[in-house]
Amino acid sequence: MSTAEFQRWEGRYAPERYLFGTAPNAFLAAQRARLPKAGLALSIADGEGRNGVWLAQQGLDVVSADFSPTAQAKARALAASRGVTITTELIDLANWEWPAEAFDVIVSIFAQPLERKRLFAGIRRALKPGGLLLLEGYPPKQLQYGTGGPGEIERLYTRAHLEAAFGDFSQVQIDEYDAEVSEGEGHGGMSALIDIVAVK
Ligand SMILES: C[S@@+](CC[C@H](N)C(=O)[O-])C[C@H]1O[C@@H](n2cnc3c(N)ncnc32)[C@H](O)[C@@H]1O
Repeated sequence: MSTAEFQRWEGRYAPERYLFGTAPNAFLAAQRARLPKAGLALSIADGEGRNGVWLAQQGLDVVSADFSPTAQAKARALAASRGVTITTELIDLANWEWPAEAFDVIVSIFAQPLERKRLFAGIRRALKPGGLLLLEGYPPKQLQYGTGGPGEIERLYTRAHLEAAFGDFSQVQIDEYDAEVSEGEGHGGMSALIDIVAVK
């Protein structure tokens, strides 16, 4: 992990408010009917837990993984306020040993990996056969909007990246579109988005 990157996120999460709000990401919430009724879900780069907590509210056991202890304290508080529990796991995506075939669902919302191939390989490894992948990120067009997300092209996602990584999964659906996003102070305004739904 880069120390500067860690400190940047710790600083962003330090104020009491939830940087990206407490409502789940709209793409994730729209996939509710696809979720299994029970099972183990991983929400990767889950930050303050808005998505992991929502998954727990759907009846799943949830591992909420991120490298920010400040965000994870807020994630646990959010879970408690909703009457659910989540397991927070403090991990660094740069060197985390992804477990094999461990999760029924993996959710990745706006993870910004410098090592995208490592993230994708980890997701492939950690999903159980038949497991569901739900991922949303920003494509390069988002650099024109500037309404959220990283400024570096290496941290953005294209259809080609997703097809190369997950094209052999079943029920693959990749969508690229523009939409109005309202997620706390962190993400707001017209945005370019790309997401994938796929089953291992
Ligand atoms: C744009 S935020 C998204 C947070 C959350 N998924 C959401 O949608 O509310 C990106 C997240 O990645 C986390 N992150 C960045 N680099 C990381 C790393 N190397 N290992 C683990 N988490 C990391 C940050 O702490 C932050 O929570």
